[in-house]
Amino acid sequence: MTSNESLIERRIDLRSDTVTTPTEAMRRAMAQAEVGDDVYAEDPTINRLQQRLAEMTGFEAGLFVPSGTMSNQIALAVHCQRGSEVICPVGAHIYEYEPGAMAVIAGVLPRLVPAPGGVPSVDEVRAAVRRSIHQAPTGLISLENTHNSAGGTVVPVAVMREVQQLAREEKLPIHLDGARAFNAATALGVDIATVCAGFDSVSICLSKGLGAPVGSVLLGSRDFIGRAHRYRKLLGGGMRQAGVLAAAALVALDIGPRLLEHDHRRARVLAEGLLGAPGVSLDLSSVQSNMVYLQVADASAWAAACGRRGVRFNALGPGTVRLVTHHQVGDEQVEQALRVMWEEAERLWAGVGAAASHATPADKGNGRRSTP
Ligand SMILES: Cc1ncc(COP(=O)(O)O)c(C=O)c1O
Repeated sequence: MTSNESLIERRIDLRSDTVTTPTEAMRRAMAQAEVGDDVYAEDPTINRLQQRLAEMTGFEAGLFVPSGTMSNQIALAVHCQRGSEVICPVGAHIYEYEPGAMAVIAGVLPRLVPAPGGVPSVDEVRAAVRRSIHQAPTGLISLENTHNSAGGTVVPVAVMREVQQLAREEKLPIHLDGARAFNAATALGVDIATVCAGFDSVSICLSKGLGAPVGSVLLGSRDFIGRAHRYRKLLGGGMRQAGVLAAAALVALDIGPRLLEHDHRRARVLAEGLLGAPGVSLDLSSVQSNMVYLQVADASAWAAACGRRGVRFNALGPGTVRLVTHHQVGDEQVEQALRVMWEEAERLWAGVGAAASHATPADKGNGRRSTP
């Protein structure tokens, strides 16, 4: 066991699925990775990763980039004219949590559409399309699956197809922020190609539920990825011998997807286990993948109290807490986390009852939250 792994045993980190550390298999693959200069497209391990994901998702090509943010923002820049609007669901990561990048890099504006439970209706999307000479033209439709700030909720395949059909009718490109597209596939019981079908571009993170330490892949047509490559260089994302990162990502891609169903089950166990805890309320229907959003009387106090006992999670707003499961949180750790969370809730709020608010995660603290 590495010192890193023993640290993981002591702490239970439910802040995000981005907190995982590379497994021994990933570290071995990294040490042995064949590398080259990726700005010249000469890193064989990166080329293998890009090709593998493109094949799995049904796209012509892929581009390895350092982060989901860069991947999404390159997509916006390639698809859109400056001054155009991007239609996206309320709470969309591309707008809320990619610090204004859409204005800075692509020079585009968000047009937010209501998305109860993270799912926009095709009618709302249609109503958001701008055609007038007096308005900023619509340049892109973007969906998010799973939808992080709505609770890790899943957009059904039928809804994606309806919105894609609308995009075709309107001659608009359509992008998927699929940071957790594999979680969506798991929750929907379909393969990753089904989640990605019908989009002009998809961004997939290897460094979230799949467990890689770094990296995302942007997918699209050969022509689209050619243009994206130039933007990656412009943004300083040409990482040269980054095959060491792609090697870990390839291991994550081999092993990660199979583990997601356990993450989802454990999120459910956490959610159900917290029902009835003093001062805590939650909407079980929003627990659809590896996230649990909770409403509590004082999110910071509870997070700090549990954190002192080794159970870490994020207070996303004054009364909102998010728990995220990942492959380095097992059944025992879920049990231990529940015990600590219950004890601290009892200490803080015994006799208080459930927290007052029953709003959905997406309704809570939108725009005020500092952590996605
Ligand atoms: C839905 C979604 N998209 C994109 C990102 C951005 O990924 P990164 O943190 O790698 O920039 C995140 C990060 O959590 C996310 O949740």
